[in-house]
Parts: sequence; structure tokens; C-alpha cells
Amino acid sequence: MKKGRVFSGARPTGKQHIGNYLGAIQNYVKLQENYDCIYCIVDIHALTTLEDTHLLKANTYDMMLDWLAAGLDPQKSILFVQSHVPEVTELHTLLSMVTPLGWLLRVATFKEKVKMQPHNVNYGLVGYPVLMTSDIVLYKADTVPVGEDQLPHLELAREIVRRFNFIFGETFIEPQAKLTNFPMVVGLDGERKMSKSYDNQIELAATPEETAAKIMTAFTDPARKFRNDPGHPEVCNIYRLHGFYTSLKMPEIGEKCRSAQIGCVECKRLLAENLNKALAPFRERRAQIAQRSGYVQEVIADGARRAQALARETLKEVKDKMGLP
Ligand code: TRP
Repeated sequence: MKKGRVFSGARPTGKQHIGNYLGAIQNYVKLQENYDCIYCIVDIHALTTLEDTHLLKANTYDMMLDWLAAGLDPQKSILFVQSHVPEVTELHTLLSMVTPLGWLLRVATFKEKVKMQPHNVNYGLVGYPVLMTSDIVLYKADTVPVGEDQLPHLELAREIVRRFNFIFGETFIEPQAKLTNFPMVVGLDGERKMSKSYDNQIELAATPEETAAKIMTAFTDPARKFRNDPGHPEVCNIYRLHGFYTSLKMPEIGEKCRSAQIGCVECKRLLAENLNKALAPFRERRAQIAQRSGYVQEVIADGARRAQALARETLKEVKDKMGLP
């Protein structure tokens, strides 16, 4: 017996990096065992910023391929692309009627976006959380695995649900956030969250050589200027990354860094080696899947069919409750 229904969405950012994997994907994979899971690439949400729209198709494909290689399983879960089930936009319109504008204008992410793209404060941007709510409730999901940054959006989703249910009668489930208790993965600049937009990422699908070369560019302990200077592992992101991939030997590496027995270059080489070892099975599966011509597209089409069947049922109920003739 499954514990409930999970829905999560992620924007089509293309090839996934180890931050995406450690922070979200590995959790998505685990949840498949105990929940009915629906995982969606939210391409319409990506349009709210109108960046790189010419890459949407390729990014969606690359992302789905990474998801599959990482263990998301179309036999267990519904894997699909948001725009392939257009019912979500219809529900978005209907939910917009019960969402006070004041609630949306107060959302912190909206205010940030206004600062970041003052030339493009579009209507869709204000409605971003309503579309996200539609994603979740269209499939009657009760559990939403997200990072902390999404909690305000989820609180808003719960408020919209409560308001709808209050006006039109019990229809939707109030979704619960399920926080991924995973420390943020810092990028190779040693400062900011690992993200493609900062170009500080290590891609899962990179070759071992690319991975090693990228790691060599990483910032380490800024106080350690020469090979023989003692290091400070506690401020070094390479050391932190070892924690994810080399955990058994951590005390040893820390000690060797502090006493300058190991230099940063050697330390990075060791990380590259361990990381490449850890990613080898993923990379092999990815290559195999990529070779099966049309397979990813088939998974996406099948996911859309299954998601749409659920979506139609909910939408019918919603229109009925709202009194549409
Ligand atoms: N807003 C989420 C993000 O930026 C993406 C998202 C869209 C989402 N719809 C969702 C997440 C539904 C969870 C559930 O990461």
C-alpha cells in the first residue's frame, strides 16, 4: 500500500549537475518505493523569464534522459512535460478566480523577479504560484518534495486550496511539503549554490576528463597560497564535496590538508577520481538509454497520456463544482 501521491516539478535546465542529483533527484528516486509519484518538467514555468526559449526542447530532453539514467522509472512513476497536459493552464485560469491579487504581489520570489527583470514584469510571472498550485492539485497530490526556497509557494498553494474548498465545497487536498533534508551543494566558486546559471556546476553526464578538468578550476582555501601552507578544510568546498563522495576517508584528508601533507591539486585529483567512480554506473546507463532511438520521447508521450487521464477527471469535477454549464 502506497503512502500517498507525490508531485514535484523542476524547470528544464538541461543537463543535470551533482547539486540537482544530491538535492532532489536521489530523493525523487527513493520516493518511488513508497509513493505514487508524478514528476514533471515545468516548461511553461520556464517561459515566465523568457530566457533561452530556443533551448527548451533540448533542455527538456537532456533533463529527462538524466532523470531516467538516475533511476526515475516510468514503470513506477509518471514522468512528463507540463505543456503536454494543457489542462493545467485551464485549471490555472479557474484557480486565478479564487486567488486574491494581494496574495500574489506579496510573494517574495515575485518581488525578487521584479528586481531581476524590471523590463519584463509579465502577467504570467505574478501567476507563477497559481500555475504551481495547479500542477499539484490537478493530480490531487498530497506530498510535494521541495527545497526550502519553495516553502512560501507551497503555503500559498495550501491557501488557494482552502479558499477553493471553502467557496465551492471539499474538492482539493491541501498538499504538504516534504523537505529534502540535504545540505545545499556549493558550486566550484566555493561561494554560491551549485547552479548552471553561475557556471559553477559539475554535470552528471560529463566525461571523466571533463569532470577532472572542471574540478581543477575550483576555488579552495583562499589562505593557502603555497603548496606547503597548512590548509583549512573547514572553509574549503573541495573538502566539503569529498564529504559526499569520499566520506570514509574524510578525517584523513582533513588531517593531511591541515598538515600540508596533501596539496590542493592532489586533493582535487582524488575527488575527481572518486566522483568519476561514483558516477560511472549513471554514465553507462545514460549512454545506453541515449542509444535507444525514440525511447525518451516514448517515455514522455506515455507520461503525458497517463497524467492527462488524471487531469481530465479533476478538471471535470472542478468545472462542475464551479457551476460551469
Ligand atoms: N517552482 C518550482 C521551482 O522553481 C518548480 C515547480 C513548478 C514545482 N511546479 C511545481 C515544484 C510543483 C513542486 C511542485 O523549483
